[in-house]
Amino acid sequence: MCGIVAVIDSQPVKKTIIGGLKKIQYRGYDSAGVCFKSDLKLVTIKVKGSVAKLETELNGYDGEIAIGHTRWATHGQVCEKNAHPILSSDKNWAVVHNGIIENYKEIVDERTSEGECFFTDTDTEVISSLLSANDFEDNLRSVLWTCKQLKGSYAFCAINKSDNHVYAAKHKSPLYAFCDGKMSMFASDPICFPKGDYYKFEDDEICKMSKGKLEFFNFKGEKIKKTLQKYQNINSSADLNNFEHFMLKEIYETPDVLDRVCDVYEKLDLTALKKLKFSSVKLVGCGTAYHACLMGAEFFKRILNIDAEAVQASEFRYGKQIIGSHSLCVFVSQSGETADTIAALEKISKKKAKTLVITNVPHSTLSQMGDMHFSTCAGPEICVASTKAYCSQVVVLYLLTMALKSEKHFYQALRDVRKLSEQIQKFFINISPFAEEIAKHDKVFFIGKGIDYITALEGALKLKEISYINCNSFPAGELKHGVLALVDEGTPIIVVATDEKLYEKTMNSALEAKSRGGKLFVISSLLPQAYELKDFEMCMTLPKVPKLLRGVMAAIPLQLLSYKVCMIKGLNPDMPRNLAKSVTVE
Ligand code: G6P
Repeated sequence: MCGIVAVIDSQPVKKTIIGGLKKIQYRGYDSAGVCFKSDLKLVTIKVKGSVAKLETELNGYDGEIAIGHTRWATHGQVCEKNAHPILSSDKNWAVVHNGIIENYKEIVDERTSEGECFFTDTDTEVISSLLSANDFEDNLRSVLWTCKQLKGSYAFCAINKSDNHVYAAKHKSPLYAFCDGKMSMFASDPICFPKGDYYKFEDDEICKMSKGKLEFFNFKGEKIKKTLQKYQNINSSADLNNFEHFMLKEIYETPDVLDRVCDVYEKLDLTALKKLKFSSVKLVGCGTAYHACLMGAEFFKRILNIDAEAVQASEFRYGKQIIGSHSLCVFVSQSGETADTIAALEKISKKKAKTLVITNVPHSTLSQMGDMHFSTCAGPEICVASTKAYCSQVVVLYLLTMALKSEKHFYQALRDVRKLSEQIQKFFINISPFAEEIAKHDKVFFIGKGIDYITALEGALKLKEISYINCNSFPAGELKHGVLALVDEGTPIIVVATDEKLYEKTMNSALEAKSRGGKLFVISSLLPQAYELKDFEMCMTLPKVPKLLRGVMAAIPLQLLSYKVCMIKGLNPDMPRNLAKSVTVE
């Protein structure tokens, strides 16, 4: 994980590097640092905490060459010492790194036996140590030699105090480069660059950045020619636009996102999709994307009558999967950089299964993999807790499944999604009384049946990740098989019940919890009967939308609830503790 940025300009770069780091804090934000090269010195400033904190420490520091980092710790505690940039022991090299060096222990042992000292607990320090291990005349040769010693995943940028370049290398972690003839940049995400075309590093490529110039090499040291990638302008910004937090802004963007999905998919050529022949489906993702996969599996089963199963990517990698030429494997990821999801796709790439990838970030690693790629068109999602991207993932899965059924179904699906968008637009309700109640508790249960159970899972994940309340979700019918033992006086039970056919059964389970002291908070598509109201602490009736899209409708109040509870608790929803948006390590 972690985000890296490097800049060379003919003017001071502090503003550019801090601006870039702020944009990629979604990759980690437990500590941050920057190293300026000024004259023949490397000046490193690091903090435990966010880039905003780092910024306040930079008074009086600046330079025309700099590398910067925002960290999500993998090796070594979160502290100033372990924050990047990491200097070599001779202080000649400074390095920022994203990834994991798997053979770092062996390198530490080897280097220590040669008399080297290590000062941090990071795996990254072996990079700076190796860079300074040899006295190659050309620093580029040190970088090449170092890369050959490393195993694992890395994107790193390095500067040496004796020349005016930044060197960067990539193996399995994303890295991009930009140059407009004056200013040059490296970054983990092109979101950091001024709008314009950029270069994408492929695995085992190195780049030497000079003022206004980039030179690319392969690991043999041969110069390579790169093609510019087009900047994809999605009409949605990565700025707060008067909202207090990205999470709220992104929830409110959902209707526009769904309209955009319809506009884009209406014009898409789905011929190749329709030619697919398969008799079973696996859907693979992590976190919220996995919940979208669960929804997708329901769509395949209910709309196409095809056997479908959602699997968490981390389990998919190591579990036994029955996959063959008759299988369709669908990979869902907002970032397109989730290490487990990428590895899951790599695992089946040798089999004959057809692969379909759904991502939100068009330039991401996963977007370039698989037989077919579809975009969720949600625009930049910055908040760690996924909201608009979840809704668009579910909707895209719905549209694709309906397209596989028939043209008529596909056009009906587009109308359904437009209707859903309209209904969501009208349903940004005041959720404060509900949130005030929930915020008082340290455990909350979510229950539902069928598709509503999937919504319960997603609701619980959202609330736990930004409120730190212990939230768990269960199929309503499972309560009595253990969970009821945890229900005591006042335990909040959030009941998702949008399916009229399952409503009564869900309520029976909910009432069993109420009899044991539970308080029921109901989210339903049905108007409650007067006699029911006395049993409910609170009840919210959702606007009518087609049955299979009710999960998206119900997700909106649950997202708003999580946001509000987080506000009441005085927490930051965009940067929850210990988490990161893009999980690029296993
Ligand atoms: C992390 C994020 C989640 C996200 C998951 C999968 O855990 O905190 O919000 O759902 O990764 O990410 P992806 O980018 O693959 O959708």
